[in-house]
Amino acid sequence: MINHPERKAEPVPAGNRPLKMKLAAGKYFWCSCGRSTNAPWCNGLHKNTGIRPFRFVIEQECEVFICQCKKTSNPPFCDESHLK
Ligand code: FES
Repeated sequence: MINHPERKAEPVPAGNRPLKMKLAAGKYFWCSCGRSTNAPWCNGLHKNTGIRPFRFVIEQECEVFICQCKKTSNPPFCDESHLK
C-alpha cells in the first residue's frame, strides 16, 4: 500500500485479482484510489481523497500484471497482496 501523508480516504479495491495487460511504451497513470471508472487508469475521481495516481513509464512493450486490490507495495504491479 502506498502511504500519502495528506490522505483523507482509504483506497478501495477495484478488483480482487490483477489485470494481465500488454502495455506499449509510454507514460501511464495508475489509479491508486480504486475509484476510477476507467480502471486501472486514473480518470480524476480521486479528487478530495488525498490520494494521487501513480505515474510510471514503460520503456518497451511488455506484458504486466496490474494491481487491482490497491494493496501492492510495488505499484502499479501485482505483488500478490490480494492473496493475503
Ligand atoms: S481516479 Fe483513482 S487515483 Fe485518480
